[in-house]
Amino acid sequence: MLNDRYILLIVGGGIAAYKALDLVRRLKERKARVRAVMTAGAQEFVTPLSFAALTGERVHTDLFDRLEEADIGHIRLAREADLVIVAPATANLLARMAHGLADDLAATVLLATTVPILVAPAMNPTMWTHPATAANVATLRARGIHVVGPGTGVMAEPESGTGRLAEPLDIVATAEAILAGQPVIAPVASTAPAVPMPVPPGPLSDAHVLVTSGPTHEPIDPVRYLANRSSGKQGHAIAAAAAAVGARVTLISGPVALPDPAGVTVIKVQTAREMLKAVEAALPADVLVAAAAVADWRTSGTAPEKIKKVPGARGPTLALVENPDVLATIARRRTHRPDLVVGFAAETENIVENAVAKRARKGCDWIVANDVSPETGIMGGDRNTIHLVTPTGVESWSPASKDEVARRLVQRIADALKGE
Ligand code: CTP
Repeated sequence: MLNDRYILLIVGGGIAAYKALDLVRRLKERKARVRAVMTAGAQEFVTPLSFAALTGERVHTDLFDRLEEADIGHIRLAREADLVIVAPATANLLARMAHGLADDLAATVLLATTVPILVAPAMNPTMWTHPATAANVATLRARGIHVVGPGTGVMAEPESGTGRLAEPLDIVATAEAILAGQPVIAPVASTAPAVPMPVPPGPLSDAHVLVTSGPTHEPIDPVRYLANRSSGKQGHAIAAAAAAVGARVTLISGPVALPDPAGVTVIKVQTAREMLKAVEAALPADVLVAAAAVADWRTSGTAPEKIKKVPGARGPTLALVENPDVLATIARRRTHRPDLVVGFAAETENIVENAVAKRARKGCDWIVANDVSPETGIMGGDRNTIHLVTPTGVESWSPASKDEVARRLVQRIADALKGE
């Protein structure tokens, strides 16, 4: 898949720069062409000569190198690649990307490129969980930049936590998925912040926002479960967008193949009952956004041992019982009911009427109704057509990506909390 593809590797300045050498080796094994750009910081850790030897190409380091400009030029360098990988992406490099700086060759190439970008962050765990980094990563994600890692474990410094560069093979697998146009399932997930950090000022800076996301898995026996196809992308995007504007966010997520959004406390659950318990334990909160696709039913009992096939016998019958409704339970609480409770609805017909009825039935304040009728081509697609049902009426939004829906919803929540 990487055969003859041209990868531009931008190496940031961190101790993990030496691992980028292994990444080059892995990319070359797969017959990719690799050209490296190194920041000044990167050259403090590894020499350009090492990258030149492994890539078999000249290594680029200087924006104002006349020889280099005459030879290829930074704009061509940025555009000719099939993919740009930034590994390690330091906190500083992520910040410069988020703010569009062009103060060295690496940042200039990143600003000038029009091809997909994959960043593999690596830094000290406290820097990773800092709200500034969280906001920068959320900004980059919202721009469609792919993120892999960082991982959790012991760091080069005598410290452990989240901040290790993703494994080179995980970076390669993510790069392959991007080039194949497949959904990117970043293989390494980060964990919740190890150190509580002050929340930066922003529209939601005093708010605690709870978000549910993903599917739930309801066990049948020790190896099987009932589930649905929810990816969790919308709920995770809302959590990231709320964190980016300063909220303290608790994301309660069923099993998903997504990295934890930076700067968000993530509580992982399997079943609907666990999700309800986790949401209740996370109260008090100012806002609940229930974006999870909670399984409506679970089996009436979980078999303690794996259910065996019996030759010739009929298959087992599953008896189902209803799960608790997380949204409705929280919306109807007498104590610690969040000021704003927002539910989701996926509708294929009579969208607004059904959403209005659902709002009343669940006792929530708003319903974000997603028009999933076949003519919108939304199921599995990237753009959503939303009708926001509130006590004062219905707003219909123009089709937008999940990230854009998340940003608009968070903005509406911030306005509502301010009383606008
Ligand atoms: N929800 C929940 N707990 C459940 C079921 C649903 O919290 N056990 C929440 C979802 O997170 C979402 C909303 O309720 O916010 C969706 O309601 P639901 O009744 O499941 O509606 P739809 O999925 O739209 O399906 P239907 O219209 O068939 O009821």
